[in-house]
Amino acid sequence: MKRIGILTAGGDPPGLNAAIRGFGKAAIGHHGMELLGFRSGLKGLVENNFQVLDSDTLSGILTVGGTILGTSRDKPHKMVVDGEVRDMTPAIVENYEKNELDAIVCIGGGGTAKNAKRLADAGLNVIHLPKTIDNDIAHTDTSFGFSTALGIATEAVDRLHSTAHSHHRVIVVEIMGHKAGWLALGAGIAGGADVILIPEIPYSIESVAESVNRRASSGRNFSVIALAEGARNEQDAADLAAAEVLRKHASTPEAKAAATKHRDAVIAEHRDNAFKVAESLEQVTGLESRVTILGYVQRGGIPDANDRVLGTLLGSAGADLVAEGTFGVTVASQGGAAVPVPLEDVAGTLKTVPVDHEWIRAARGVGTNLGD
Ligand code: F6P
Repeated sequence: MKRIGILTAGGDPPGLNAAIRGFGKAAIGHHGMELLGFRSGLKGLVENNFQVLDSDTLSGILTVGGTILGTSRDKPHKMVVDGEVRDMTPAIVENYEKNELDAIVCIGGGGTAKNAKRLADAGLNVIHLPKTIDNDIAHTDTSFGFSTALGIATEAVDRLHSTAHSHHRVIVVEIMGHKAGWLALGAGIAGGADVILIPEIPYSIESVAESVNRRASSGRNFSVIALAEGARNEQDAADLAAAEVLRKHASTPEAKAAATKHRDAVIAEHRDNAFKVAESLEQVTGLESRVTILGYVQRGGIPDANDRVLGTLLGSAGADLVAEGTFGVTVASQGGAAVPVPLEDVAGTLKTVPVDHEWIRAARGVGTNLGD
């Protein structure tokens, strides 16, 4: 009987439990495997902290938000143990062997794909199931979690419209998405935001102010601005790009550490971006401006139907791949099918919004200002 480990790592988008259940039901019921659920991401593998998952534990979790296994952002090669950063890959390999595992299933986003590849490089049989509300995983049309978060962010943009309208205000709504603009762009289009600012298109505050003023002079003295958390104005985007280049070309570990510190400082400097945008717009347009940061409400709660279907599809396909002995892959969603893609093609590659993407064209088509 094959013995498989499963874990969830990184953020907790809706649909994780659907994927655990999808994998588990197919693995146990269909392929007769045994399943160990490791708690709190890769940390669970390091600490050998697991529970046996059976049909009872997998029952009733399809509609539940979060993850029954817990999660963390721990990286195997850089884990804090007793106050020290250590490479815990050997401990993971040891526990994998001790538990006589045949494979480990890592459910996570881009960071988890990199960690899954590290474990595959260390000789373990690994597969990765792609989840994230950011929708930024290479070779995957849509990652589970995105659809639910898109619905929540869209509803927020809808609701902000009526209060912006009543108070004649500008409302800047900050939407998650890390370095990608999928969520802000999708919610901005679906909610009819007047301006959408995403990381892929550095914005000019003058252009945004011009739109707000144009609307005001035509009698619509309110505006809703969907701002992706990673969006930057032209100057800040150039500073960040320069900091990333320095980091990429650092030739020693010390230089890399210094460049990372500098890059993080540049990011931290722009963390309150939504407030800066609102303040500048209030100054330039004379309209009262307010900020709403959606935050974790976008990740919490029950998955919608799309995410339940996608989690189940990728989970059950993952069990079939493990049964046939296909490892070192991400189970990507492509054209409605679950397709194995080599981890080396996925790990370390971000799927950002192409500037000629159909959604960009559609947004411009209906007169939305994208900040450029
Ligand atoms: O990757 C999902 C995500 O929600 C991003 O949109 C966001 O930037 C990040 O996680 C927040 O991370 P944390 O939960 O560690 O604060």
